[in-house]
Amino acid sequence: MTTPILKALQGQTLKTSPIWFMRQAGRHLPEYLETRAKAKDFIDFCFTPDLASEATLQPIRRYKMDAAILFADILLIPIGLGRSVTFEKGIGPILEPIQPEEVKALTIDGAADRISNVYETVRRVRAQLDDETTLIGFAGGCWTVATYMIEGRGSPNKEVAKRFAYEHPKEMQGLLEAIAISTADYLIGQAKAGAQVLKIFESWAQGLSPAQFDTLVIKPTHMIIERVRAAGITVPIMGFPRAAGLNMISFAHELDIQAMAVGTDISIAQLRPHVRQGLCLQGNLDPLLLRMGGQAMLDGVDRVLDDAAGGPHIFNLGHGVTPDVKIESVHAVINRIRER
Ligand code: CP3
Repeated sequence: MTTPILKALQGQTLKTSPIWFMRQAGRHLPEYLETRAKAKDFIDFCFTPDLASEATLQPIRRYKMDAAILFADILLIPIGLGRSVTFEKGIGPILEPIQPEEVKALTIDGAADRISNVYETVRRVRAQLDDETTLIGFAGGCWTVATYMIEGRGSPNKEVAKRFAYEHPKEMQGLLEAIAISTADYLIGQAKAGAQVLKIFESWAQGLSPAQFDTLVIKPTHMIIERVRAAGITVPIMGFPRAAGLNMISFAHELDIQAMAVGTDISIAQLRPHVRQGLCLQGNLDPLLLRMGGQAMLDGVDRVLDDAAGGPHIFNLGHGVTPDVKIESVHAVINRIRER
């Protein structure tokens, strides 16, 4: 079975770029809010296949996106590793900041099994998708997950996590390895359950020195991919080293990925000459334009398509859909792409 997304990931340049949006399931959809209200909390939502599969399918029904992305979160892995995670309304994720001496107590064995409810969501979604729509599984990049585990919540510059890396290199290594092993096992489980693509979200890859980027992002990502491939999983892998500047080029060269997602800070035309021929590039409409709508948004869509022409491309945002996005704007973007 092949699909427009899989063709692009194989390196084909398609006449019409296939489309999906990061955070396409979520609070901008009234049907999402209705489904979410049935769960005790956000984590319960992610672990209830009935509800999570429904949320995954909602944007497919409404927009006929070319891909569904599993409804879950990158912060389920810390739960598998034995840490407590909660989501507070208006704040976001809250974790108990891990101390260097706690790293060796992380429960790597069985970590993926403890969050394996997600595989049932994958099975249910795949069973309900048609043959043209691709199901994307995902996990967080090791560094991004580690920033939350160390800092306990989102922060502007990740200084606490970077200090941890400089001051406790051995424990940092141990933490990244624990995340890499459990994440690989989790991605293997998703692929076996029916995920046709795996995406690694390294959302906080910006602002690292090349040396830290190598130890905190490239090496652990390599470990994930190697373990996934060693398990016989051959599905394409997308990387997303968001806003990592020139470090993105090392990411594309050094890792066995079939696509790289691009944030808003660089154009696909600028990036293309620096990555291998045939690497699919994904992105990168400014999410602010989707929030604004109107002519500026349509001009932005045209610019992305012009920049991406001549190479394998999947249309997406530079980052996720926000709750204030209007449904009509999402339709307008999709129509613009498909009518060109
Ligand atoms: O539609 C999809 O994209 C699939 C599901 C998905 C979610 N989170 C659902 C979610 C995916 C792929 C993620 C990934 C994720 N989670 C990332 C990487 C991508 C990115 O956005 O950079 C990160 C950093 C997280 C961590 C996270 N989860 C934060 C910081 C928050 C709070 C911020 C917010 O938007 O409220 C979440 C919660 C979350 N994950 C929501 C959704 C739909 C909102 C929860 C709600 O319904 O209240």
